[in-house]
Amino acid sequence: MKPVQITKDVYWVGGIDWDLRNFHGYLTQRGSTYNAYLIVDEKITLIDTVKYYLVDEMLERISAVVDPAKIDYIVSNHVEMDHSGGLPRLMDMLPGATIITSPKGEEGLKLHYKKDWKFKVVQSGETVNIGKRDLTYVMTPMVHWPDNMVCYSAKDKILFSNDAFGQHLATSERFDDEYHIDIINEEAMKYYANIVLPYSLQVQKALADLKGLDIDVIAPSHGILWRKNIAGIIENYRKWSSNGTDNKALIIYDTMWKSTEKMAFAIQNAFENKNIFARMFNLQHNHISDIMTEVLTAKYICVGSPTLNKNMLPTVAAFLTYFKGLAPKGRKGLAFGSYGWAPFGVKQVDEALQSCKFDMMDAIQVQYVPNPSDLKDITEKVQSQIS
Ligand code: FEO
Repeated sequence: MKPVQITKDVYWVGGIDWDLRNFHGYLTQRGSTYNAYLIVDEKITLIDTVKYYLVDEMLERISAVVDPAKIDYIVSNHVEMDHSGGLPRLMDMLPGATIITSPKGEEGLKLHYKKDWKFKVVQSGETVNIGKRDLTYVMTPMVHWPDNMVCYSAKDKILFSNDAFGQHLATSERFDDEYHIDIINEEAMKYYANIVLPYSLQVQKALADLKGLDIDVIAPSHGILWRKNIAGIIENYRKWSSNGTDNKALIIYDTMWKSTEKMAFAIQNAFENKNIFARMFNLQHNHISDIMTEVLTAKYICVGSPTLNKNMLPTVAAFLTYFKGLAPKGRKGLAFGSYGWAPFGVKQVDEALQSCKFDMMDAIQVQYVPNPSDLKDITEKVQSQIS
């Protein structure tokens, strides 16, 4: 349980959650980390904490550098309990310590923990001196809760970015030049799609506010620290936050007796005929949080369901609920599916996609089982609407 030095007197002292497989509904197949950072200066400062069950691990890492009882400031960049969960134990140990947080952070921490802790509330752009360093705080509301802020150390050229630029990824490596960059980028993309996407306008504002900072290291609160591919992850955030898409299609469906699945493959043929990659996601076999990773950059979103008891299938309804909450914008949509005697499923899918304000293609439905000529018609009809 060793700390990792980032630069002189600045250490990673977080916790590694190797076994985490579900983060409020998001499948985290590679675990996660909760990154806390220790700055040893005249005022010893801890930036964020860890989930409550990893506090001992964090304390062991801190103790290898300095006696934890000497901590003066704890910066709480974000109230969510994966970062603030260690505060109750720490504050019991450190009754004289001050929590530096945003106005919404103070409000949120009081509501969560009901404790009479000592707070120093900072405003956006405010700087607090801790000795040789000035730490500057910038509010980043809704990235990912109303209370969020980031912290910048000009002396170290480190941006402590909290949830922004994070990934759910448990590793013993700490930096992006030590681990597989494709996996880091995939997990950063999944993180953005499942956590940050609804707040893309706020991300754009945060990127504008942070522009011009001289940054050697981005130190997020989850996963790997960026020191080699900083420009790349910032450029990705620009693209994702502007709902920039690639010319690719997703065909997301569930099926009862394979009729809707046959339609799904007929639709895939339409995209192939137009030289557009189309990926198939049967909801019985794919997790909605993995599908969202692909949604992040897909121009075409095709969703299929048969009708069950006057409704779309529950798997499709669950996907669409999750999807609508994450609010992707600017896509082209298509609803399709089969029915027996009550054509309700496709109508509901179509309405759900319309509510996202997508540019909709004509919905497609077939009674019972599509025959070869139906499938040919489906391919031609979809093909004619692909721009
Ligand atoms: Fe990693 Fe919004 O907490």
